[in-house]
Amino acid sequence: MREILRVRPPETFSTARLDARPPRIADAERVFATYAQDPDVTRHLSWRSHADIGVTRDFLGLCETAWTRNEGHLPWLLFERQTGALVGSIGVAIGGSQACFGYLLARAHWNRGYAAEALKALADWSLAQPEIYRAWAFCDAENPASARVMEKAGMTREGVLRRWHVAPNLGAEPRDCIVCAKVK
Ligand SMILES: CC(C)(COP(=O)(O)OP(=O)(O)OC[C@H]1O[C@@H](n2cnc3c(N)ncnc32)[C@H](O)[C@@H]1OP(=O)(O)O)[C@@H](O)C(=O)NCCC(=O)NCCS
Repeated sequence: MREILRVRPPETFSTARLDARPPRIADAERVFATYAQDPDVTRHLSWRSHADIGVTRDFLGLCETAWTRNEGHLPWLLFERQTGALVGSIGVAIGGSQACFGYLLARAHWNRGYAAEALKALADWSLAQPEIYRAWAFCDAENPASARVMEKAGMTREGVLRRWHVAPNLGAEPRDCIVCAKVK
């Protein structure tokens, strides 16, 4: 049987102010302390704040497996080049002709343009691949900063996906989400 060839994102990339690389289990302490246990960061995300560092280790193990297998959500950690500080994470899931992105930043690094800078770099990379026609992301309808990040990254607001996504930190019911995309 012929192997299905999947687009493989670059393992590392850089922007004007950031360097990105895949997470490793050895990053657990930093990831836990910097953002994974912070309820302000995880409020609208699809996972609960990590209760202890063991949860972070298990999660990073799954991230390593995703990169090894080149499937599912492929994440990077984002580091501020000037200081080496861990500032957050961004990831992509590539399915067919689409690349879907998710991102978060540690609270200390909000509102400096980092999320938009990283998202724009990856959205541009994805649309430069011949197989990918749609770079998109969604956010909770009550997360205006994230909606703004998508627009700053060059995506256009397409509408609201009603009852699209469960944010477990906010309850069990699916919530309305804003969807934005850039296409070619
Ligand atoms: C959403 C998030 C990634 C934004 O990261 P960031 O690096 O601060 O984003 P940027 O600095 O690139 O852009 C933020 C924009 O939102 C705006 N903004 C911030 N808070 C806002 C608010 N409450 N209402 C409206 N706009 C807001 C900022 O002014 C900025 O826009 P501007 O540059 O036009 O002024 C960050 O807040 C975060 O990690 N939140 C928790 C995790 C999360 O929600 N991730 C997204 C899941 S879809």
